[in-house]
Amino acid sequence: MQTRVLKVDAHQPEPEAIHAAAEMLRAGRLVAFPTETVYGLGANALDSAAIDRIYAAKQRPASDPIIAHIHEISQLYMLAVAVPDSVDVLIDQLWPGPLTLVLKRASGVPANIATGMPTVAIRMPAHPVARALLQAADTPIAAPSANTFTRPSATTAAHVLEDLQGRVDLILDGGAATGGMESTVLDMTQFPPVVLRPGGVLLEDLQALLPDVLLLQRYVDASQHTSAPGQMLKHYSPRARILLFTGEHAAVIEAMQAHLEAYASDRAGVMVLDDECRHFEGLAIVAPMGQTLTEIGQNLFATMRHLDAYNVDVILVRDFGREGLGVAVWDRLLRAAEGHVIRV
Ligand code: TXA
Ligand code: MG
Repeated sequence: MQTRVLKVDAHQPEPEAIHAAAEMLRAGRLVAFPTETVYGLGANALDSAAIDRIYAAKQRPASDPIIAHIHEISQLYMLAVAVPDSVDVLIDQLWPGPLTLVLKRASGVPANIATGMPTVAIRMPAHPVARALLQAADTPIAAPSANTFTRPSATTAAHVLEDLQGRVDLILDGGAATGGMESTVLDMTQFPPVVLRPGGVLLEDLQALLPDVLLLQRYVDASQHTSAPGQMLKHYSPRARILLFTGEHAAVIEAMQAHLEAYASDRAGVMVLDDECRHFEGLAIVAPMGQTLTEIGQNLFATMRHLDAYNVDVILVRDFGREGLGVAVWDRLLRAAEGHVIRV
């Protein structure tokens, strides 16, 4: 398969490119596109053969379900049934945006989008390219993150190409995905509702609307069978081993420095705040991610891929706290580190 890349304006995508992409989707082909979280690998959500192509392209086990993207509320009621009233306020306040709702699946929706489970995950993205594509395709679009299974999510078209060249028909290149981390996944089929994956919509924002909401804190490794999709511990991993440090700040910096003595400076990388770079000059390949949690979120996956390109053996990173977006950042780091945390 030849992979075409079409550049589009992130704010006002060119109609010709959007229509070419929509045509492909309607013909059962795969199109990668930017969203406000990460790039998605899209297929017609009502075409089970096209959905199968997503699993094949990502080399993703058929046990991990896929999110259906929509652009208007009527599509929610086409995909889901028995939608609880409590969903209204979420839609009203947080859509379009980085919030995915797990609901009871309607009978006409292909079962393989949800690996046979009786549910479906639905999200209304805010990114103008995603919205234009959904509108032109005139069908919900099934789209996981556009990376190979267990690799860091793709936040640029170049990342998508790196993982999926020859496996996706078309990539709409609308520049960097703005948020950098995936959506918050909220299971509305249970009461109280449960956050299955922390993400761009903060726990605090959900609690303000749904006071009972819980955060699932359970990870399993690949050898365990699980009924909880998306809880696999190894995920988002660069090729290099991630060493995740937690503890008091000064002690953590010192422990990271001491740890780097064991590695040649060109075989190790560190992912740090801008103002922490000076602690690691000459000890490792230093990758600054910005200064705020928003910037860390935006740069997290791109930085892992950037350091991987240097072929380092290890990447050291620290706990950036659990405030606000910190919950989502910690989740991604913990999984990238396959659960191994170095407590200082
Ligand atoms: O921000 C995002 O959500 C991005 C963009 C492209 O929209 N998509 C994304 O998709 O991250 P993916 O496939 O990489 O992650 C989807 C998550 C997984 O954790 C999956 O297990 C969960 O959503 N999920 C999907 N369908 C589900 C379902 N029916 N029940 C429970 N969890 C589900
Ligand atoms: Mg993913």
